[in-house]
Amino acid sequence: MSTLLIHDCDPGIDDAVALLLALGSPELELKAVTTTHGNVSLRRTTRNALDLLAFAGRPDVPVHAGAAAPLVRAPVYAPEIHGQGGLGTVTLPEAGQPVQAEHAALALIRLAQAHPGQLSVCATGPLSNLALAERLQPGVLASLKEIVVMGGSLDTGAPKLGNVTPHAEFNTYADPHALRVVLESGADVVLFGLNLTRQVRVTRERIAALSALGTPAAQLCAGMLNGYLDMIEVRDQKVGALHDPCTVAYLLRPELFEVRSARIEVHLNEDEQLGMTVLAQGEPNVRLAVSADEDGVYALLSRRLG
Ligand code: BDR
Ligand code: CA
Repeated sequence: MSTLLIHDCDPGIDDAVALLLALGSPELELKAVTTTHGNVSLRRTTRNALDLLAFAGRPDVPVHAGAAAPLVRAPVYAPEIHGQGGLGTVTLPEAGQPVQAEHAALALIRLAQAHPGQLSVCATGPLSNLALAERLQPGVLASLKEIVVMGGSLDTGAPKLGNVTPHAEFNTYADPHALRVVLESGADVVLFGLNLTRQVRVTRERIAALSALGTPAAQLCAGMLNGYLDMIEVRDQKVGALHDPCTVAYLLRPELFEVRSARIEVHLNEDEQLGMTVLAQGEPNVRLAVSADEDGVYALLSRRLG
């Protein structure tokens, strides 16, 4: 039986790899791609989603544009990691298919109502669209099968906690209030923070192995990931991480990850800790991914891109 899926994303280099992994996986039935502000502007993330679907020969998958800005705070973007266009040094041919007229949050509500308890959401950008859907239709997130989120960072004793600030991960920093709404929704949330995704490293060797697969999808991913490593090396970070694809890998092969029930809270005060996620006492509100089989994730990615 296939998993019905919405990919809510801000492509974004690693969002693009996650999307291509989903498209290469027959177990996933991609009902829609919904886009948000994030790594680059909403206009650009939406353009990238359309172009990626055309590249993959799947212009039939509808793209719904969503939130152009976070719920409360001012927008933040990450061109220093993803490039001005969002896909690093890669430029795709412009797709012919148009974006849907329906807003991402409304599409999410419609699809959730059409498939109660059956629809999974993989969220690899700021969570603004999910929060808007919950405010428009209270209970909609809890009616989903599960929401697999890339966001947050938990203190695992490693010297580095955040990536956009010393305390915060990019997606939660870019819309911390939306994360609060999702955490309070009662939905089944599986959370992949930096503490997890940094276990699945992006190295030149891994990229070369992907490139050697020789397919257009594998070579596109290799091209984008090389651009990503170039960008982070300039910023003096030697090892990158395959953040967003971990969420799709989990949907395909949950046994590649260890998850534990936990209570996570997000720091909303407008100080230097804005967007920081912390482990808290009390009723669990997520299943937190704590460890990954790095070789297993790459083996899966290679099979599906190859
Ligand atoms: C997350 O932030 C974005 O830059 C990436 O696409 C990923 O979703 C990592 O912190
Ligand atoms: Ca992303």
